[in-house]
Amino acid sequence: MGIQRQLSIYGIGLQVPSIGEDKRVPAITNPCLFFIGKVGLRVNLLTSLATPGENVRMIEVTIGILGLGTVGSAVFDELHRHGEWLARRSGIRFKVKRILVQDMGKKRDPRAESLVTSNPAEVLEDPSIQVVVELMGGYQPALDYVKRALHCGKQVVSANKHLLSNAWDILREACESGKAGMFFEAAVAGAVPIIRPLRHSLIANRIGELEAIVNGTTNFVLTEMRSHGASFAQALAKAQKLGYAEADPSADVDGLDAARKMAILSTLICNGPVYERSVSRRGIREVSQQDVEFAESNGFALKLLGGLRVLSVDSEGGCCSVSVSVEPALLPLDHPLAGVNDVLNGIWLKAEPAGELLFTGHGAGGPATASSVLGDLIFAANVAIGRAAPAPICGDWQVSVEKDERPQRWYLRADSLGVREMGDVAATMGIKFQLLSEGTRGSCGITAPTPRGLAEALAHRTGSFVARVV
Ligand SMILES: NC(=O)c1ccc[n+]([C@@H]2O[C@H](COP(=O)([O-])OP(=O)(O)OC[C@H]3O[C@@H](n4cnc5c(N)ncnc54)[C@H](OP(=O)(O)O)[C@@H]3O)[C@@H](O)[C@H]2O)c1
Repeated sequence: MGIQRQLSIYGIGLQVPSIGEDKRVPAITNPCLFFIGKVGLRVNLLTSLATPGENVRMIEVTIGILGLGTVGSAVFDELHRHGEWLARRSGIRFKVKRILVQDMGKKRDPRAESLVTSNPAEVLEDPSIQVVVELMGGYQPALDYVKRALHCGKQVVSANKHLLSNAWDILREACESGKAGMFFEAAVAGAVPIIRPLRHSLIANRIGELEAIVNGTTNFVLTEMRSHGASFAQALAKAQKLGYAEADPSADVDGLDAARKMAILSTLICNGPVYERSVSRRGIREVSQQDVEFAESNGFALKLLGGLRVLSVDSEGGCCSVSVSVEPALLPLDHPLAGVNDVLNGIWLKAEPAGELLFTGHGAGGPATASSVLGDLIFAANVAIGRAAPAPICGDWQVSVEKDERPQRWYLRADSLGVREMGDVAATMGIKFQLLSEGTRGSCGITAPTPRGLAEALAHRTGSFVARVV
């Protein structure tokens, strides 16, 4: 006997063969009610995820973890401290069999000492390991390890945006060949649920527009500059001191981390692969105190913003064109994302028929990220034991990433040109300013709606810092 499924039709209980053995646990009922014609036909399905009040058998699932750093340690700790609670809630008891690390000499959590190995085969080639949790980061050797696991039919949970945003095709092929699934809620915005909503809950929606703050480090730096008048360098130093920024902060401040996350979100929205290299990006190194002050005194917040616009969709032909960017942007203070400050992340989107939606919360840190990893782990385990089926890692539409040339407003700051010279250069290019003011050194202002290419050409000609105005 294994998972016990019960169909009750007019109160007649039918038992469906089940999988696995162990204790019975309380389960949440998930009744589906169907009414057919005039006769009420009630089908009460005990669904795959065990939930209070029903009888579902406890199943042990054996897992291997690749990486025991910030996130890996938090996941391991949660499984240790709350494993029994999780088992009673999900019907799955996890057994961690092996943990891959790089440096066997490093001091570890004593509970993990007997499990660590530096030999990847002990995880990837152990037939008893059903789910591999990849938390080592980087492109290689993570790609090889994940491919090997998928090819063997192991389910894979990963938090690795670097890997995903560069290897959609390879990973899709590996999933198909091993008939396995890959789950990656933790790869974008830490604890904030956005991947599963896009892959499942919002699957029936057409999403045309998305704005996202998906890098907590830069959000912290810009919040510091705004609320404490700090310079970029001072704010970054504080972020490093508090552990919010790496010693080498370039992936964050140059927008690479956010671009990887935007590639993942775009892939799910466009139903086909979008790669890191296709996302146009600029970071926040050039942002000055003057920009932050100008934004605030004119009703905006300056953010590093990921932006996505679907430009056209041909669902019959299976293709979609989209613009995807990461760049500094002025966000009106009444925009739902304007209040997403400090290290928080936020994703706002416009969907049809759902309307506008906002997702926000902690985008990084061991415990916050572990939340998403564990949610995926339970789903992956359900797939491993046949209680659920995985969705494809990504669709197969052709996605072309293009510049959005529809006119929009732009903020420009020129340090070496006064208001008059700036206005004159803009006029010769046919660009109008709606607001142009003298800055401490040069001038800054907001254009009337202007195509991106033209605004960027003006910025280039005048040596200006440029930011999109939402
Ligand atoms: N940190 C966060 O807040 C956060 C948030 C969201 C997503 N993520 C993602 O989660 C993943 C892990 O991040 P992290 O911050 O936990 O990283 P981390 O602290 O640097 O830990 C990486 C772990 O992987 C191991 N490792 C690295 N390369 C290896 C190799 N070649 N062979 C064997 N083991 C190797 C390391 O071993 P040693 O212990 O021996 O060095 C370490 O245990 C990354 O993909 C990251 O982007 C992180």
